[in-house]
Amino acid sequence: MIELIGVSKRHGETWAVRPLTLRIARGELVVVVGESGSGKTTLLRMINRLIEPDEGEVRIDERAVATQDAIALRRTIGYVIQQVGLLPHHTVGDNVAMVPRLLAWPEADVTARVDELLELVGLPAATYRARFPDQLSGGQRQRVGVARAIASRPRVLLLDEPFGALDPITRGALQGELRRIHRELALTSILVTHDLVEALALADRIAVMLRGELVQIATPAELMTAPAHPYVASLVAMARTQGELLLRTRTPS
Ligand SMILES: Nc1ncnc2c1ncn2[C@@H]1O[C@H](COP(=O)(O)OP(=O)(O)OP(=O)(O)O)[C@@H](O)[C@H]1O
Ligand SMILES: [Mg+2]
Repeated sequence: MIELIGVSKRHGETWAVRPLTLRIARGELVVVVGESGSGKTTLLRMINRLIEPDEGEVRIDERAVATQDAIALRRTIGYVIQQVGLLPHHTVGDNVAMVPRLLAWPEADVTARVDELLELVGLPAATYRARFPDQLSGGQRQRVGVARAIASRPRVLLLDEPFGALDPITRGALQGELRRIHRELALTSILVTHDLVEALALADRIAVMLRGELVQIATPAELMTAPAHPYVASLVAMARTQGELLLRTRTPS
């Protein structure tokens, strides 16, 4: 379980995140939606202590993260950053193996784990293990990013716009795979996106951020039928229009 209790972060006059309280149950997948600069990345990075909140407390499984060693903590939390961030001069296999090697796993276990993970994200190890990041498509790089984030069997997975720059087909496929991985590994996950349609496709609950404020947290169905804030209502209206346009431009089959 992840708990943020009265957590906030300010840079001078700018509230990156206004005091908010949010509880995410074990096994839940919460999607954080909001426009650029609304505080989504800040929220995520306060969980793995890449950013220290000004006020409030973050807890994972009832333990305050502030009392834990930040480096050790981060090795128990999978994190897929906004720009994937693979090491360009290391192979796919070595990128995925990074945290297990830092944790000094026996090399045979590392190799077996890398192969298992590459299969899990749909990149057969025999073909992809020895490639370098620039020999992959954008979607394949994102898959490696996900494999790397879950390599050391974290219980918590944080994903910051993991499917940002992808075509809709690849994006849809990866969304489906992420839900499967989330369920199979019994993860507690938070995914950040600016796309409500993506949130509707993935989330158990959706958290909507506006200028650092958490304006609503609700299931996809609740959000669509009972938006609790004008900004949420405008997002919902946009998502509906998009859906209707998609339907209208589809050729009958
Ligand atoms: N180190 C910093 N110094 C000053 N302001 C900052 C700093 N980091 C973030 N901010 C500000 O805090 C706010 C929230 O930033 P954050 O990166 O969390 O937004 P975001 O929702 O992730 O945006 P995007 O969708 O563009 O990634 C922004 O207004 C940003 O300019
Ligand atoms: Mg961001």
